[in-house]
Amino acid sequence: MTATICGTGSYIPSYTMDNHDIAKLVDTSDEWIRERTGIARRHIIQNETTVSMAAEAGRRALEDAGLPPEEVDLILVSTISSNLILPCAACEVQKELGAVNATCFDLSAACTGFVLAYNTAMAYLTGGIYRTALIIGSESLSNLTNWKDRGTCILFGDGAGAAVLRAGDFGKAVGTYLPVTHSDGGRGAALTCKSRHDYNGLNCHKGSGDDVSYYMQMDGQAVFKFAVKNVPEVIGEVLALNHVDPEEITYYILHQANRRIVEVVAKRLGEPMEKFPMNLEEYGNTSSASIPILLDEMNRQGRLRAGQKLVLAGFGAGLTWGASIVEWRSLRQ
Ligand code: COA
Repeated sequence: MTATICGTGSYIPSYTMDNHDIAKLVDTSDEWIRERTGIARRHIIQNETTVSMAAEAGRRALEDAGLPPEEVDLILVSTISSNLILPCAACEVQKELGAVNATCFDLSAACTGFVLAYNTAMAYLTGGIYRTALIIGSESLSNLTNWKDRGTCILFGDGAGAAVLRAGDFGKAVGTYLPVTHSDGGRGAALTCKSRHDYNGLNCHKGSGDDVSYYMQMDGQAVFKFAVKNVPEVIGEVLALNHVDPEEITYYILHQANRRIVEVVAKRLGEPMEKFPMNLEEYGNTSSASIPILLDEMNRQGRLRAGQKLVLAGFGAGLTWGASIVEWRSLRQ
């Protein structure tokens, strides 16, 4: 059985904070943030939630695929910032969309989450267990951000992206690629955030006050070094494993964390920057939502064509990282 992406969608909150707004909160500047990260602004939730953004992105992806919600067999939501512990975000998305036949669960692997959701869905589809999957990355990182910490608050934003995967007879190559993924819990201290529901007897932490461990904390240089070493390596591994030459790849769709990381990865792979689309200037780092938001933008701009090979590569807290090869195929093409 083969399977492929056949529709995309996204939802971006309309409210924005640019670098000048951030400079009113912490000692920083537009120039510093742009130079070190490439980020100019980020979109921040107002009335939206992680679940509401996930549902809207999912609805748009199904519309793009031209499939009714009843056809969906599996809904996976990748998130580290759901507004709900119970029920899971995926079940809420099911309810909102009327995807009554779907099995639903969430997945948590930070900025590698969408790649792992893609791999998980592909395993179900190519294994013949399900025919149609809706995978979503949705994040409200503004809720986990310490707005007094200039080392992190400049980086993150909110949003959701989604893709519909469909099993079928798409030709020999499609869906037969093996992914490469890695985790290293031993280096987890580089990027942490405690749960607001971290129990100490009867004292459930309410997530307020000055305890910064309940917000994202990061060793920026350690994460940077990890990304520029491990991401080119894992892309090299996935290409070698599947006997695909770099020349066959049309685009490398990397997790959108930092322009400098993307530039170093491109250089280390010896590939031109035109193959590395970016939108982080507009959205900042939206964790597991960044890859599907970029994928949806490119799809709607008409930049993705049947037969193109793409590499999706994620990396982040855990530490976790991984890459997958996707052969683009629209049900309508
Ligand atoms: N504005 C102005 N100055 C800042 C600043 C800010 N927002 N943040 C840090 N600085 C200062 C530091 O205090 C330090 O000052 P000092 O030299 O007087 O001590 C100086 O800038 C350099 O700090 P450093 O942490 O070495 O900066 P950097 O070049 O490593 O850039 C990051 C910081 C966070 C932009 C960079 O490390 C990075 O992008 N890391 C990867 C983060 C990431 O992508 N995480 C998510 C992965 S999924």
